[in-house]
Amino acid sequence: MVVNLSSEQITLRQPDDWHVHLRDGEILESIVGYTARVFRRAIIMPNLIPPIKSVGAAIKYRQRILDAIPSGLPFTPLMTAYLTDDFSPDVLKKGHQTGVFTAAKLYPANSTTNSSNGVSDISSIGSLFETMEEIGMPLLIHGEVTDSDVDIFDREEVFIDRHLEPILNRFPSLRVVLEHITTKQAVQFVENNSSTLAATITPHHLHINRNAMFDGGIRSDFYCLPVAKREQHRLALRRAATSGRKCFFLGTDSAPHLRNFKENSCGCAGIFNAPYALESYVEVFEQEAALDQLEAFTSENGPSFYGLPLNEGSVTLIKRTQVVPEAFNLKGKTDSYSSITPFHAGESLKWSILLKENNRRA
Ligand code: NCD
Ligand code: ZN
Repeated sequence: MVVNLSSEQITLRQPDDWHVHLRDGEILESIVGYTARVFRRAIIMPNLIPPIKSVGAAIKYRQRILDAIPSGLPFTPLMTAYLTDDFSPDVLKKGHQTGVFTAAKLYPANSTTNSSNGVSDISSIGSLFETMEEIGMPLLIHGEVTDSDVDIFDREEVFIDRHLEPILNRFPSLRVVLEHITTKQAVQFVENNSSTLAATITPHHLHINRNAMFDGGIRSDFYCLPVAKREQHRLALRRAATSGRKCFFLGTDSAPHLRNFKENSCGCAGIFNAPYALESYVEVFEQEAALDQLEAFTSENGPSFYGLPLNEGSVTLIKRTQVVPEAFNLKGKTDSYSSITPFHAGESLKWSILLKENNRRA
């Protein structure tokens, strides 16, 4: 990484996004470019309706993503399998060995958006974990319990005790990513188990704590799962992300929902951060005086965990203030209910990405 502070410019090895929701259809077509013009590869979440449960469905979805990418942007979607109670170990094995499934995603049933087909009893899918351990396929976990008697702010911590620790003990070589961590307990647990366990950290969990959801009224734009926690947890996440430790890496969890599904008496969980994700992370690293650790987090620790080569290309950022738009419209639509509100809407960000002419922001 070249940090030229005198000209206030940073050149980074091109990053990857190790957790993103690209959706499908007109949303996919409207948003995939925001990810593809900055990130070289991304782990694509499988929680579509219906979810991606077969090798064939993943191949078709990957093709729809590739077809939707604006021309000239090299971008590799890395597909994931959506685990269910009856998922077959043979399908996982075939999907991984033919290079279609990079990893498999465990959603505890009803833990988050489009997870109703997820796993209802984690202890019953041991044969899947065993297969993954054997073939070296990473397990990606949405780490929250769903028991109604567990407070929503405690669900990650309880998941670690009840499920994650037993999984790691029973399958000591299984490589696991605890996705979008939100608590100091998760930070500590990952650090203590970093030989096989890693975690992604989102930009929003580095910027906001739970107060953002209730600032002057109910603000669904800051509602995502796992839900943002108290300030002490946000600070622990900032320390983890900027520590340079190999077990922490970039995963935006960019999760777009149309305005009418967010502005609703039962608004959807998910924050759309793809258009300014890298700038958002850079701001955090600068505030923490840790720009020297930025490239490890954005561009090195992820590939190293997944056993993939580092990217060859680079991305340059300059210190130039930009104001984030209030909304992004779907292609060809102008009504506000067909728009998506981005993270940092209406705010100024201090860094801007220098993009090639044909990738310029709209
Ligand atoms: C995600 C979505 O909308 O698909 N929502 C979210 O709040 N993060 C699902 C997920 O990753 O939990
Ligand atoms: Zn997600």
